[in-house]
Amino acid sequence: MKKLLSVVGARPQFVKAAVVSRAIARAGGFEHRLVHTGQHYDENMSDIFFRELEIARPDHALGVRSSSHGEMTGLMLAGIEKVLVAEKPDAVIVYGDTNSTLAAALAAVKLHLPVAHVEAGLRSFNLRMPEEVNRIVADRVSHWLFCPTATAEANLLKEGVDRSRIHTVGDVMYDAVLHYLKKSPSSRVGRYCVATVHRAENTDDAQRLGSILAALDQVADSVPVVLPLHPRTRARMNDSGIRTKKIEIVDPVGYLEMLALVRGAEAVFTDSGGLQKEAFFLGRPCITLRDETEWVELVDLGVNVVAGTEAQAIVGAWRALAGRKLDGSARPYGSGDAGGAIVAALRGVE
Ligand code: UD1
Repeated sequence: MKKLLSVVGARPQFVKAAVVSRAIARAGGFEHRLVHTGQHYDENMSDIFFRELEIARPDHALGVRSSSHGEMTGLMLAGIEKVLVAEKPDAVIVYGDTNSTLAAALAAVKLHLPVAHVEAGLRSFNLRMPEEVNRIVADRVSHWLFCPTATAEANLLKEGVDRSRIHTVGDVMYDAVLHYLKKSPSSRVGRYCVATVHRAENTDDAQRLGSILAALDQVADSVPVVLPLHPRTRARMNDSGIRTKKIEIVDPVGYLEMLALVRGAEAVFTDSGGLQKEAFFLGRPCITLRDETEWVELVDLGVNVVAGTEAQAIVGAWRALAGRKLDGSARPYGSGDAGGAIVAALRGVE
């Protein structure tokens, strides 16, 4: 029996790995080991995801806590290498673009273990984002590149990746929404918008963070805004003395509650990649609090506006999108069985 090993560490990876784990179990014929680096560790950043998504407990928990990029990635690299030497998997599956993704891809390729990258080929073309560096390196050393979109596939072909390594399978986040939506609680009643802000380029620049929160406060003058707050954003707000007036700030929420919040919201404001798509899957307009997005299909469809971080631009984008009729017929993220397609491709593992 072939042995697959998945490495996860941060919130969105728990969701992606839940989909792939279930597809592996359904297909049969594989052993599957799970490694949690420890990058996210709080109850509401990690444990709740394992419970709600019904993911098996990790076989290995490395307990590496968030720190500077070099230190965190280095500690993970050393920890993952030990696990890989002991487990001797036939392939290593990595997800998305976090420091856990980078560490796992490097540890595996150096041991000559083939790497499968789920969510390959995304590019923001902004090397100042840690995620962009992580995904470029992970793609470069991976044997299987599982692309969620045609755009991602085109990016890889432009970079000269051999076509035989590229598998455009659709987006596992779409599989996840289809599977978990029925388990999510009922939505909050009344009119409201939901927002999240956690990207380093926004949180670590007091001016950008202040301007985003000022915009959300302006929106909150007309419609309540719920902001589940990432711990780093909370810390930076405290450091910089940024105060909000009307935004309803709550602790980070689990996946099922987030689906419920998005489903009932008038609009979503976010700098998260996953949430931009969840808004689309649930038919909600999205105002992206960044200067670029990897999910360009959503912009082309007119359901997502990349507003940047200037308060007036954010409020203006919200006003422009609020009344717009969204086209719910497009399916740029596959048919909802990306997990099955990934496992089918991994069948060929030597
Ligand atoms: C990471 C990913 C990002 C992803 C996000 C999902 C990288 C470079 N970034 O960003 O791509 O979108 O996860 O949420 O890997 N903290 C806690 N408790 C936790 C986790 C974090 O308090 O359980 C705090 C720590 O103070 C830490 C900070 O949050 O310093 C940032 O965490 P970190 O893991 O470095 O990156 P994220 O911003 O979460």
